Amino acid sequence: MSAHKQQIAISAAALSKRFGRVQAIDGVDLNLAAGQALGLLGPNGAGKSTTLSILTGLVAPDAGTVSIFGHRAGSAAARALCGATPQVADFPDQLTPRELLAYASARYDTPAAVADLIPRFGLEALANRRVAGFSGGEKRRLALALAFAGNPKLVFLDEPTTGLDIEAQEQFQSVTRDYVGQGGAVILTSHHWDEIEAVCSHLSFIDTGRTVLNGTVDELRARANRTRIAFELPQGTVPDAWMQAHHDGFVWSVETTDSDAVIRRMVHDQIPFHNLTLAPLSLRDLIDRIRTEETTS
Ligand SMILES: Nc1ncnc2c1ncn2[C@@H]1O[C@H](COP(=O)(O)OP(=O)(O)OP(=O)(O)O)[C@@H](O)[C@H]1O
Ligand SMILES: [Mg+2]
Repeated sequence: MSAHKQQIAISAAALSKRFGRVQAIDGVDLNLAAGQALGLLGPNGAGKSTTLSILTGLVAPDAGTVSIFGHRAGSAAARALCGATPQVADFPDQLTPRELLAYASARYDTPAAVADLIPRFGLEALANRRVAGFSGGEKRRLALALAFAGNPKLVFLDEPTTGLDIEAQEQFQSVTRDYVGQGGAVILTSHHWDEIEAVCSHLSFIDTGRTVLNGTVDELRARANRTRIAFELPQGTVPDAWMQAHHDGFVWSVETTDSDAVIRRMVHDQIPFHNLTLAPLSLRDLIDRIRTEETTS
């Protein structure tokens, strides 16, 4: 596994791309090794899909460099190693998942077995039905299975779980973790921060076309080094000013780098808290805090 981990899957620097008057991206940097999953985050229109299009070779960047396992993005050598799910996927109506998977597998030297892909992506009941009439979530399952059909070393997944039910989302997460555990590399975009946390060790945040944060989830946690203390108070009671507490509905919360000290003082001051819980900050809060610190420092 350590040999897998050192192999560089994606190396991209200073990518930019303009579509007419729209500067879609301008300064995207991204690195990924085998055995890693990277979550690409950012608001609508930030440039995530454009970045993936450049990495898969569908779109040529105006500037910047990109290599996929040392090959040119979109070259036959790179494509032989990659699988992808676009943000919006559609298929020929007359074909069945089994036929489409067989067709996709045939493009690769050492594809996955279609008989394995079908249960892995929850397609058992759909495998022999024509795609015409498939629901959004059913099409998405098929699109995911197709991304893995070639037994790729790297998969690009653009909002892979949009429209999937909870069970299919969990199945996707477990398939992805297994794949990464076996040395596969994954880059996925998502607006579901929980999903990124569940699957990704690395993340990259793009804002208006520019990479503003790159790192591992653990590094970010260490940088922000904060814990959230959440608790309730009897109605009509408000926390003391020193606590700098915020409330959301009935729950008050305090973010701190020293939860022991805060809780000791809450006890000492006889603050009538109940249902107190401690939790690390969510990924979303973490990135918010780091970005705020960067812009104010
Ligand atoms: N082919 C195109 N022609 C014109 N503008 C484009 C094209 N592709 C992307 N853009 C523009 O580039 C910007 C980045 O788009 P992109 O699809 O990469 O965003 P995204 O981060 O994937 O957003 P979302 O979260 O909504 O999927 C947007 O302003 C978009 O309108
Ligand atoms: Mg997109």
